[in-house]
Amino acid sequence: MIINGTETAKKIKDHLKTKVHEHLKSGHRAPCLAVVLVGEDPASKVYVGHKEKACLEAGITSKAYKLPESSSESDIIALVAKLNADQGVDGILVQLPLPKHISSEAVIDAIHPSKDVDGLTAFNQGCLSLGRKALRPCTPAGCMELIKSQLPSLRGKTAVVVGRSILVGSPIAKMLLLEDATVIQVHSKTPHPENFARMADILIVAAGKKHLVNASWIKKDALVIDVGIHRGSDGKLTGDVDFESAVGVASAITPVPGGVGPMTIAMLLKNCLEAYEARVYGNSF
Ligand code: GUN
Repeated sequence: MIINGTETAKKIKDHLKTKVHEHLKSGHRAPCLAVVLVGEDPASKVYVGHKEKACLEAGITSKAYKLPESSSESDIIALVAKLNADQGVDGILVQLPLPKHISSEAVIDAIHPSKDVDGLTAFNQGCLSLGRKALRPCTPAGCMELIKSQLPSLRGKTAVVVGRSILVGSPIAKMLLLEDATVIQVHSKTPHPENFARMADILIVAAGKKHLVNASWIKKDALVIDVGIHRGSDGKLTGDVDFESAVGVASAITPVPGGVGPMTIAMLLKNCLEAYEARVYGNSF
């Protein structure tokens, strides 16, 4: 079975759109996301474009702040501080990667945790580690939605995460643990990661290596979530999993494109709405 992330994301976005309309009908302002893009990275420009379009469709205002590649760390942090103080801004997203001369950590941690709709600040990642309620990172949250659409309970399941990035591998391992899965995490320094992967009922691949995983890594009838995204010289997108080989072994698998990618955006909108509701209605999250 091929998991349709585009369709699942659409259902979530339609639901969020209805909620936004209800807020507007009760006389409140629209939610507002500030998107900060530094430099000219072509992939980042495409991703930011998708995020802005999705906001517009859901009735969320998006404000784009495009800064030149030559911006200093303090220029970017000053902008973030201004957005933190702006009561009309609910969420702040700084698109990664940032230019090499900028510390992503310093910039991300300048975002106020209540506006951190990417869930990437040390505060929100710390809350996740402690199992506390907080804004969750979007890509792993999207993966969890897809996993739970297939497996409502993860208790008794073995999950193997391939990768340990701050964006995906580390937070998803914690999310799986919070759902009572037994979690194994492998990474680039793990000898023979395929031996661990073959133990997985749920295999999440977020290694950033094209076609790292093939059928020989996958236990029969495992659920496979492919977080990778790579553009080939022919312009085609592929993942970290060799889909053609894996599809015959997995019980369910996410395609690239059309799997995890659209879910990341749906989760960003969900976080924006949560941050907005907390700001406008005083709801805690
Ligand atoms: N670059 C690639 N993925 C992401 C993401 O989820 N958030 C941000 N801010 N930048 C990214």
